Amino acid sequence: MTTPTAESVPESVAAPRAERDRVIVFDTTMRDGEQSPGASMSHDEKLELAKILEDLRVDVIEAGFPIASNGDFEAVRAISGIVTESIVCGLARAGMADIDRCAEAIRKARRGRIHTFLSTSPSHRDHILHASQEDILEMITKSVGHARNLCDDVEWSAQDATRTEPDFLRRCVDAAIKAGAGTINLPDTVGYSYPSEYADMFRDILEHVEGADRVILSTHCHNDLGLAVANSLAGVQGGARQVEVAINGIGERAGNAALEEIVMALKVRGDALAFHTGVETQHITRASRYVSAITGFPVQFNKAIVGKNAFAHESGIHQDGMLKDRGTYEIMSPETVGQGGSNLVMGKHAGRAGFREKLRTLGYELGQNALNEAFQRFKDLADKKKHVFDDDIVALVDDALASGSDRIQVKTLRVIAGTEGPQEAFLTVTIDGVETSANATGDGPVDAVFNAIHKVAPHEAILRLFQVHAVTEGTDAQAQVSVRLEEDGRIATGQAADTDTLTASAKAYVNALNNLTARKEKSAPAAIASGF
Ligand code: KIV
Ligand code: ZN
Repeated sequence: MTTPTAESVPESVAAPRAERDRVIVFDTTMRDGEQSPGASMSHDEKLELAKILEDLRVDVIEAGFPIASNGDFEAVRAISGIVTESIVCGLARAGMADIDRCAEAIRKARRGRIHTFLSTSPSHRDHILHASQEDILEMITKSVGHARNLCDDVEWSAQDATRTEPDFLRRCVDAAIKAGAGTINLPDTVGYSYPSEYADMFRDILEHVEGADRVILSTHCHNDLGLAVANSLAGVQGGARQVEVAINGIGERAGNAALEEIVMALKVRGDALAFHTGVETQHITRASRYVSAITGFPVQFNKAIVGKNAFAHESGIHQDGMLKDRGTYEIMSPETVGQGGSNLVMGKHAGRAGFREKLRTLGYELGQNALNEAFQRFKDLADKKKHVFDDDIVALVDDALASGSDRIQVKTLRVIAGTEGPQEAFLTVTIDGVETSANATGDGPVDAVFNAIHKVAPHEAILRLFQVHAVTEGTDAQAQVSVRLEEDGRIATGQAADTDTLTASAKAYVNALNNLTARKEKSAPAAIASGF
């Protein structure tokens, strides 16, 4: 095997050396990530995530698929209006209407990009597009050319590139470059490739396609065989200079390459693979937690970089080594990725300034109103809970951000539970500021609470997921609850945290219901959502 350094990259990547060694980070958490079944994000959550991605200094934010729905269009448009440094990108199929809609959505962006794609593999040509190779080439020329008339920065993707005949893929890339694409993405759409094959595909393009050395080649790897990160790094070895990634590796099916893993692999092993990114890694944990909270997808405990156990040392031998020298068992420090450990933060006597400072170290810059609200919640929590940990604060702030603009809000809840049934819930909510109450029995206290919600806010949605996690340890720990609802094929997730598990459950359900209502304006046509 050749030594994987920048030297092994084909000389034809003709940028100045410093730039040659920089890998552009293209985040697709809000587009491909949101295509994970159940991983819907509300408009406000997307805006908040865009701010976090800017703090991370990702180079490109793929904010959505504007033609897919009004909600996606509005999210891309709003993000284009608030992002100042990163490029804001929207996805479009090869049709003119898609591209026009995308161009309109990114119009306000300081730096906008149209990302248009077309399938190139025989499987997709025959079964999805019913198009010949010549048809595909013509569509590439037309779509990329049209996009270039509307935007200077155009990316073209060859969907299912890794299962495309190499000679035809070359012709497709050639057509896209000639039509004006500045970035060429070669996705492993179905997560089928091996690292060596993926690297060779980029080398082949660089060697055989005129002008390939003057555009940016990009990776986009799905994780069906657990190889997405390895393949993306191999793509970089082969000459790619952009990686398409998602926080926590979320995305279609088994997901995309995880941003945090690729960024840290490049940072920690610069000796082995001499490339770097511009990502400010101390924001990684916050981004991971936020994505997990808004999607309701828990991060597995042993997940690289962001898992709860990623920096935990359990065995005596390891602990002994760590006490003598952290380098014995740690290849990076938790602080590098913003994992501060579960340190005790402060009690109920803490002041607002100290609280604001704590939030800042956890990566939150809140406006005055949000700060006041978070501080009040913190005080309430400190009254109930002996030790308040960083994780508690993160949970309460994320909770406030998630539910802040909800139409329906839980006001009070009282539940009768225990062995002497029936369990009964007494609930008061406000809907658009107007108070309404109901009580209901159920098969258990949670069922009673959800039945009471049905009474105050009648709906047809079906409960698809109900999940409870303890934020920290101890019986007074906050419960973090995720709820997923489905109605007419639309899925929405809600979450909430509280020291009272039933209150957290009620708030999470109501949050999901609010998100579902918001999503009703946002229909995602199945024909568009599938096929990636
Ligand atoms: O996986 C894929 O091929 C995609 C494209 C739309 C870039 O997500
Ligand atoms: Zn994809």
